[in-house]
Amino acid sequence: MTSNLDFMHGVKSLKNIDVAGKRVLIRVDFNVPVDSHNNITDDRRIRSALPSINYCIDHNACSITLVTHFGRPKGQYDEKYSLKHVRKRLERLLNKKVEFIEDFEASKGEIATCSLERVFLLENIRFREGEKQNDTELSKKLGSICDVFVNDAFGTSHRKHASTYGVTEYVDTKVAGFLMIKEIEAFSKALLNPTRPIALVVGGAKISSKITLLKAVLQKIDKLIIGGAMSNTFLKALGYDMQNSLYEEDFIDTARDVLDLARKNSVKIYLPVDVVITDSTEHSVDVKVVPSQDILEGFQAVDIGPATVKLFSEAIGLSNTIIWNGPMGIYEIDKFSKGTFKIANAIADSYVYTIVGGGDTADAVDKASEAENFSFISTGGGASLELLEGKILPGFENLDRMDT
Ligand code: 3PG
Repeated sequence: MTSNLDFMHGVKSLKNIDVAGKRVLIRVDFNVPVDSHNNITDDRRIRSALPSINYCIDHNACSITLVTHFGRPKGQYDEKYSLKHVRKRLERLLNKKVEFIEDFEASKGEIATCSLERVFLLENIRFREGEKQNDTELSKKLGSICDVFVNDAFGTSHRKHASTYGVTEYVDTKVAGFLMIKEIEAFSKALLNPTRPIALVVGGAKISSKITLLKAVLQKIDKLIIGGAMSNTFLKALGYDMQNSLYEEDFIDTARDVLDLARKNSVKIYLPVDVVITDSTEHSVDVKVVPSQDILEGFQAVDIGPATVKLFSEAIGLSNTIIWNGPMGIYEIDKFSKGTFKIANAIADSYVYTIVGGGDTADAVDKASEAENFSFISTGGGASLELLEGKILPGFENLDRMDT
């Protein structure tokens, strides 16, 4: 049976086409984290798009137009989400002038002027109402400014939007960029013929979006290690009193199903045996380590405890493929970051094939100074989860195929 990964691996890439003299539109994912002064705090996603952009420059494309979203604006202009802030960093990394385009329809002529492989960056495509609706008109308009469409936005490839999906209807040549291919190859290595045992380490606060995926993924893995806010829902399902901890009431039954299914599939599950608790995350005066069953009244779990770090690290040390998505606690706050950083160290020290997915987790790995010691850091959060779930990501669905 062909897997979703095999299907996605079968798409044509930039290498398989000729871009000389062509107007190339590249969908990138420059949805990068910024601080309150709009400084980019992690430019991995921009750096990861450079190989495709440089390839088009080196192979004499007529022009290269980059389109991306940034944040979640409400379908209209919002200064906070303008890509003007991103252009400068792109210019510096590319070492080339990047021209900013606010209204791409008005700049159609400019884009078609083939001189010196000009690079254009379009204003945030989510300022257009039609983007998220995968609107036909917007898709057509995007299609009309290019001869070749390249999807290199792996982080957004799970979205069926005009610039990731709809546009493919209106362009004759549509291929994957190098980042898309690299991501698929990395996940294929982990999932298609993995060196077992294979462990999935999950955490983070976005419980509802991840918990359903766990059911699907149980058929592929040998160990499931659960920390962070995600584990609170599981501990609650076991009947523990989680007090003020973040958990999702609506997903307690799903957590129970996951535990049952794991038992049936002989997948070993690891949950926190102790947790760091606090009375408040804002002005925490009282911070303690307690067994997971003994969370004090009015307290909340905010990190895994030292006994859990030891347990998880041992389970990690006995695995031969490790996929990690989601921090083990509120790692942004110093006092509650130890569990996440120690798990980063344990995975990095395992010397086996390791993949990290999700912006927060990648950031935690950076902060733990372990980025060099992971086999692959994915630029996809939600996208990598849907891929693990076995889905064909919409961003790959309509691209030209090698076998046609
Ligand atoms: C991400 O950061 O996960 C991607 O850029 C997708 O963003 P979205 O969740 O706002 O669609």
